[in-house]
Amino acid sequence: MKKPIVTLKDVSKIFDNGTKALDNINLQIFKNETIILSGVSGSGKTTLIGLIAGLDRPTEGLVEVDGVKISKLPQIELDSFRQKSVGVIFQDFGLIEYLTVYENIIASLIPLRLERDIAERRVQEAMREANISHKANSRVYHLSGGEKQRCAIARAVVNRPNIVICDEPTANLDLENSKQFIKLLNGLKSKGHTVIIATHDPIFERLMPNIRKITISNGKIENSYG
Ligand SMILES: Nc1ncnc2c1ncn2[C@@H]1O[C@H](COP(=O)(O)OP(=O)(O)OP(=O)(O)O)[C@@H](O)[C@H]1O
Ligand SMILES: [Mg+2]
Repeated sequence: MKKPIVTLKDVSKIFDNGTKALDNINLQIFKNETIILSGVSGSGKTTLIGLIAGLDRPTEGLVEVDGVKISKLPQIELDSFRQKSVGVIFQDFGLIEYLTVYENIIASLIPLRLERDIAERRVQEAMREANISHKANSRVYHLSGGEKQRCAIARAVVNRPNIVICDEPTANLDLENSKQFIKLLNGLKSKGHTVIIATHDPIFERLMPNIRKITISNGKIENSYG
């Protein structure tokens, strides 16, 4: 039987102020799937992504990602899991503006303690994949929105994570850059990555083959079809 790369079992998330953002979620995602997570604003997409990425913990239930029961890990092991297994592209990119593209990307590799020349090669490869090599030595605050996004993509894939997660990735992009970004995601998929995208943008359904759409409503999964 095919083994899931992400499993959520009876997962709920209640924030400190009492908001129930996720309500008894059961979900399996398989290796090399492309998942489109849709749902109206406030439905729980970012919260769900945060749990899969190990950025937050569920109030109840089990989250298992890439063979690790992350909902049970001590914080230090959770950080190391995150650095190795998942790459996250945040809506606002989360880059360090005063560092160069190259510095932002290589910073992701520090926890892996790779030899210098191996790290160097990986950064060059990630920049090539994301089509941002020509801006390697530019500071992030000099980049356009699309270039920042490509830098964020390179940073998310430089660790060679099995799972790449994006939250509203095209919210700030024009059509041309959105199409370019989707081409990149399709490239990641063809290399065996599992891709999870939270979005309202119908362009993903139009331009990405073989997706599975999961709709979330009031913290519950409404439907899931491929
Ligand atoms: N840290 C927090 N503390 C309290 N409530 C929160 C917190 N984060 C999110 N929420 C609430 O949880 C619910 C789900 O939020 P979430 O950010 O997951 O929605 P979303 O689907 O990503 O929305 P959007 O499309 O606007 O990004 C919302 O009601 C939100 O107000
Ligand atoms: Mg969100």
